[in-house]
This record gives sequence, structure tokens and C-alpha cells, in this order.
Amino acid sequence: MTTTEIPNRYGRLCAEIYDLDKPTGSLFDIPYYQGRLKDLDGPILEAAVGTGRLMIPLLEAGLDVEGFDHSAEMLAICRANAAARGFEPRLTQARFQDIAYDRAFAAIIVPASSFVLIDDHDEALGVLGRFRDHLAPGGLLLVDMPPMSFFEVVAKPRGWIAANGDRLTLDSQMAVSDPIAQRRVNHDRYDRWRDGKLVESELELFAYRVWGLKEFELTLAAAGFTDVEVCGNYRVGRPVRTGDGMLNFSARKRG
Ligand SMILES: C[S@@+](CC[C@H](N)C(=O)[O-])C[C@H]1O[C@@H](n2cnc3c(N)ncnc32)[C@H](O)[C@@H]1O
Repeated sequence: MTTTEIPNRYGRLCAEIYDLDKPTGSLFDIPYYQGRLKDLDGPILEAAVGTGRLMIPLLEAGLDVEGFDHSAEMLAICRANAAARGFEPRLTQARFQDIAYDRAFAAIIVPASSFVLIDDHDEALGVLGRFRDHLAPGGLLLVDMPPMSFFEVVAKPRGWIAANGDRLTLDSQMAVSDPIAQRRVNHDRYDRWRDGKLVESELELFAYRVWGLKEFELTLAAAGFTDVEVCGNYRVGRPVRTGDGMLNFSARKRG
């Protein structure tokens, strides 16, 4: 990766495909978040809010949620998806590493494994500190992460048909695999085909760092969080089991 290449950019084609692949209300995490957030008193911040896939159902459930994301393209889709349902949520273009709000949140949530997109341990520790500083005393942090086995995943080529009939494709190649840093970089090639011709291509560098379960618990504690807990596959109170596809961490800022 050269210094001019921004990883995890989520540019135009990538954002369009994200929205096609995971439309508003898709995936299994919505009841989990609605349940965990419903009794909180105060605003909620979704980090890396993307297309609003999760945020919009939370708004529909009456929760006071806003979000930030570094991708202008994801935020544009989020705004349009929200407007189509009568919402105009507060959205900010910002990186995990730079958020600066003048108010404290009752909860910060990081769904859909977005935290792994901070591909450096020390930077991730800094982001957790920033989250802590933006939480009210006793505020809740929820972070979902894939298990370590995500490091071994080999992505298969995939394809989608857009509403206008364009064929969109994704081909992912592993470019860097560093088990010591627990970091991988994939070269994700996105293509748009129309009438049998390639009309648009984008290369996305997808850089991520996987975490061990105990490692992340200890890192949350090192970042000043308390009441650190983890459950598996969005089942609150159910300990993680081998084979779970998602680890759901929760922690609180000291009251
Ligand atoms: C897997 S998507 C999750 C979107 C949404 N939270 C959801 O649950 O569907 C990851 C999101 O992280 C955003 N992202 C990646 N790196 C980021 C960074 N450094 N700061 C802020 N957002 C980032 C991407 O633009 C993308 O929208």
C-alpha cells in the first residue's frame, strides 16, 4: 500500500453494492440493538454508520441515533435511505480516529465488524479512548467483532444486478497477510458491466485487523472501560461458543 492509497474507502461502487447486498433492515442484529438501547436516557452514536442499514430501523423504533462515517458515498446513500422513510438524521463525515463532538452520548455502537477496519492496535486503543471520552458517565459501548477465524476467510467472487440492470461484480485477492500484526489487506476489485461492456471499475484496499476475544476484553479494560462482557451471535447472556460467527462486546464508561 502506498501512502496515497486510503484503505477501506467505501467509494461509489462499493457503497452501491453494500446497499444492494445489505439493504436497510437486513442482517440479524436489529432486535439485539433495539433491545440493548431501548431504555437508555440520552443520544446514541453509531460509529461507521454506512448506508443506515441498522440506524434507520433504530430511528423507526423511536431511538435518538446519529452517526458518522468517513465515506461520503456511504453517507449519501444513508441520507437518501433515511429521507425515503421520512427521517433526516444527524450525520457527520469523520474518521474513527478524529471524532470530536461537543456532547456526551448514552451509548456508542460499532456494529457489523467495523472496528476491525482500524488495522493497527495502537490506533484502535486511541479510538477506544476517544469513544470513552464521548460517553456520559456509565455510558454503554457495544462493539461487534468476527472471531479470529475471519483471518483465514477466502472471499469468493460475487455479483449483483442493480435496479437499472447493470451487473456489478466483486473480486477479492489477498495482498498482505501478517499473522503477527493480526492484519490483512485484500485488493477488492469492483466492476460495473452494462450491455456486456465494462463501464466502471474501482479498486478498494480492504485492510483489517482481527482480535482475540481475551485480547479485546483486556484492551477495553486498558482503555478505561468497566463491566466488560461478551456474548455470541447477538444472544445477550449466552457465552460465546466455538463456531459463533459474531462476538458481541459490551462495556461501560466508569460512572
Ligand atoms: C461494514 S460497514 C458498516 C456500516 C453500518 N454500520 C452497518 O452496520 O451496516 C463499514 C463502514 O465503516 C466505514 N469506515 C471504514 N473505515 C473508517 C474510518 N476509519 N472511520 C470512519 N468510518 C470508516 C466505511 O465507510 C463503512 O461505511
